[in-house]
Amino acid sequence: MQKMQKKWLVGNWKMHGSLAANKALMEGIRSEQPTLDERVGMVVCPPFPYLAQLAELTKDSQIGVGTQNVSDHLQGAFTGEVSPLMVKEIGCGYAIIGHSERRQYQGENDGLMGRKALAAIDAGLIPVICVGETAEERDSGRTHEVLARQLDAAFGYIRTAHDNIILAYEPRWAIGTGIAATPEIVQAEHEFLRQRIAIRDKDFAAKLPIIYGGSVKVSNASYIFSMPDVDGGLIGGAALNAREFVTIYRELIEIAG
Ligand code: PGA
Repeated sequence: MQKMQKKWLVGNWKMHGSLAANKALMEGIRSEQPTLDERVGMVVCPPFPYLAQLAELTKDSQIGVGTQNVSDHLQGAFTGEVSPLMVKEIGCGYAIIGHSERRQYQGENDGLMGRKALAAIDAGLIPVICVGETAEERDSGRTHEVLARQLDAAFGYIRTAHDNIILAYEPRWAIGTGIAATPEIVQAEHEFLRQRIAIRDKDFAAKLPIIYGGSVKVSNASYIFSMPDVDGGLIGGAALNAREFVTIYRELIEIAG
């Protein structure tokens, strides 16, 4: 399939950071990489309380800011929730949706993920929609069944022809374990996901950025990113180190070239 899409490097800071640590991290990233390459987008996703700080720290740069979660509603009586309109208003452009840690610890399900993706799009955010199987699902040969179910649930809500979306393949067994999926596994699953979306909309599938997440680091990034259906990475641990994050970013530039 002919692809022309931009590549993406998205940093998921998870529940890490402080005002001082975030400032130091962004100063580090910006001193290592003063300007971005237009072929490779960079997005950082801090916890909610720091979104405004990050919007301020990145305002004169091309670095995007994303949230790690949003409500599936735009406003209303939803105590403790945060509307995608609110994060958009303070300078966010992206929202991670359906991360496996939310599925695992907060009980988020496929339907909720789809509604959140739609709410994010309605608020003008680009959702980074996460799908991925557990080790047990992979070992029992159900990876494609699980990916298809998660994907169909999310895309059931989305008007593919119009929407800007990033899809992230994040096998749960590779997240935070230090053991990334092999480049061959990543390619096979990205290809599966792209083909599954092509059933709905071929042009959209060809252009959809599909990024990989799960223990990406400097030592494995170039192998994974050079696979044909891999359009970048969703980075956890390595996104908290300016030099590592920027080195991974440069790997992507090289591959984009
Ligand atoms: P990791 O996390 O890079 O630390 O494995 C990836 C993620 O959870 O998005």
